[in-house]
Amino acid sequence: MNPLRCAALLVFCNTVLMVCNAEARNDRPIIGVLAQEYQSSGKSYIAASYVKLLESAGARVVPIRISQSEEEYEQLFNSLNGVLFPGGGVNLSSSGYAKAASVFYRLALKANDQGDFFPVWGTCLGFEELTYLTSGELILTATNTSNVSLPLDFMPDAKDSRLFKNVPEDVLKALATEPITVNSHHWSVSVKSFYMNDKLRNFYRVLTTNKVNLEFISTMEARKNFHRFSSMEEETKALIYNYNPVFTGKVSSFEQMYIFVSAS
Ligand SMILES: *[C@@H]1O[C@H](CO)[C@@H](O)[C@H](O)[C@H]1NC(C)=O
Ligand SMILES: *[C@@H]1O[C@H](CO)[C@@H](O)[C@H](O)[C@H]1NC(C)=O
Ligand SMILES: *[C@@H]1O[C@H](CO)[C@@H](O)[C@H](O)[C@H]1NC(C)=O
Repeated sequence: MNPLRCAALLVFCNTVLMVCNAEARNDRPIIGVLAQEYQSSGKSYIAASYVKLLESAGARVVPIRISQSEEEYEQLFNSLNGVLFPGGGVNLSSSGYAKAASVFYRLALKANDQGDFFPVWGTCLGFEELTYLTSGELILTATNTSNVSLPLDFMPDAKDSRLFKNVPEDVLKALATEPITVNSHHWSVSVKSFYMNDKLRNFYRVLTTNKVNLEFISTMEARKNFHRFSSMEEETKALIYNYNPVFTGKVSSFEQMYIFVSAS
């Protein structure tokens, strides 16, 4: 397995995706989830846990396959309400996952500049991918975080963040005091590297950190939009329900996956 897996576990995906704009609501969000290379099989996969996470928050999911054209990604971008870059273990600069992430990231920035907010969520590898896309550099540090549960250390910016501001007090308290966030990564973005990097520091607000052998960043945030597919037919054809997750056993850290037989 590529050692560059999982920089941090991000919690409360549901909260960030359900943030409401007071005047207008979208009660039928559809979120894209990036696929990634499935070992060297020529196939790609999405871990079923990410689909379940989004579904449990009330969203539906459309898979974003690797090796599609830029036009296909752009069309999907204009149809979806956000994208999730999941965890896993592929190359941050040369994989199909990295290439798709880069297109969605660029389109999200452009939309954002035009006042059209497109949430991008990154967990683990996705978190690393975001720091790579923003800074253009690999700034990871090895940490002893491959199988540990930790409480979060909240930073002052967390209080008015979109991610945490509506989280109930008792949940915030549990997150701050009990070891209930899973860490399953060998590399992290250290607080030191983060603040020494102007691009990262200017782009993200640090909401929580964690301390193991060194202090690392554990959270960042996103918004909401009103994109949609051009027709119900297009929507139906694109949804994850067209695929079945399968039990894969111990081939990786994920035990159930959606597997796509060819890249395109
Ligand atoms: C990722 O791919 C790039 C370009 O092919 C390569 O230079 C780099 O070493 C790879 N990184 C890892 C961790 O394999
Ligand atoms: C991780 O833990 C092991 C044993 O507990 C220790 O020898 C090693 O130095 C630690 N690594 C880091 C990066 O702190
Ligand atoms: C992870 O940690 C738990 C609790 O410390 C331990 O019981 C378990 O065996 C560990 N799993 C692995 C794969 O190391």
